[in-house]
Amino acid sequence: MSTSRAGDRIRLHVNIDHVATVRNARGVPYPCPVEAAELCMATGADGITAHLREDRRHIRDEDVRRLRERVKGTFNLEMAATDEMVAIAVATKPDIVTLVPERREERTTEGGLDVVGGGAALRDRIGRLLAARIPVSLFIAPSEDQLVATAATGSTQVEFHTGEYAHLTGEAAHAELGRLASACTRARALGLEVALGHGITLANVGPLAAIAEVQEFNIGHALIGDAIFLSLAGAVRAYRTAIDAARAGLA
Ligand code: PXP
Repeated sequence: MSTSRAGDRIRLHVNIDHVATVRNARGVPYPCPVEAAELCMATGADGITAHLREDRRHIRDEDVRRLRERVKGTFNLEMAATDEMVAIAVATKPDIVTLVPERREERTTEGGLDVVGGGAALRDRIGRLLAARIPVSLFIAPSEDQLVATAATGSTQVEFHTGEYAHLTGEAAHAELGRLASACTRARALGLEVALGHGITLANVGPLAAIAEVQEFNIGHALIGDAIFLSLAGAVRAYRTAIDAARAGLA
């Protein structure tokens, strides 16, 4: 069971995939996602998240190796639950692996992992990661059946998909926020660490940070986009400030 208290500081993990997207657009070595990761860590991030996709469209194998060497703090490797990715994780030993669904034609991770339907193959891959002493987080929709199935896998953490919340406004956003808050409470009661991710921006992070059970954010696209205007250090500080201010409102 987690020992974190409601009101504790929330970990900010920066997803640096889109630094690699810009690099790859030119086929040159810059901007470097590993340098970006180091700067984020020096300016208030608690960890770095990188998604090694099957098609290597942004982060590449060499980035993963160098991130493991140079990230001082938590290195969270996001990946699909495939044999290839499990072998890479076991060889690289990130601090945690987040398992996500992956479809080649999608622009970004759409929807959560189907843990209920994942069956023996998913359980086997989670088991291999845990046997290698790599904590596992599952990226799921905030639904009771997926959450109960997640807890049954022995995973360490759950990351709830906030994409739905991010796209809604008004009453509908409020309702989705309530669904996320209930799922967070239930996850902590099941002994899982609780993270949130996807579509989080400076404008919508506050109400999420005010959910007492949230322990971690994984934020990529909007933060890297904000860095164009604020600098990367400025963007990390802006998210840190917004998260801490919303969390302080709980006290
Ligand atoms: N968390 C998970 C599991 C993801 O797949 C992604 C997208 O790669 C993110 C967080 C970050 O989402 P965004 O780029 O929208 O901030």
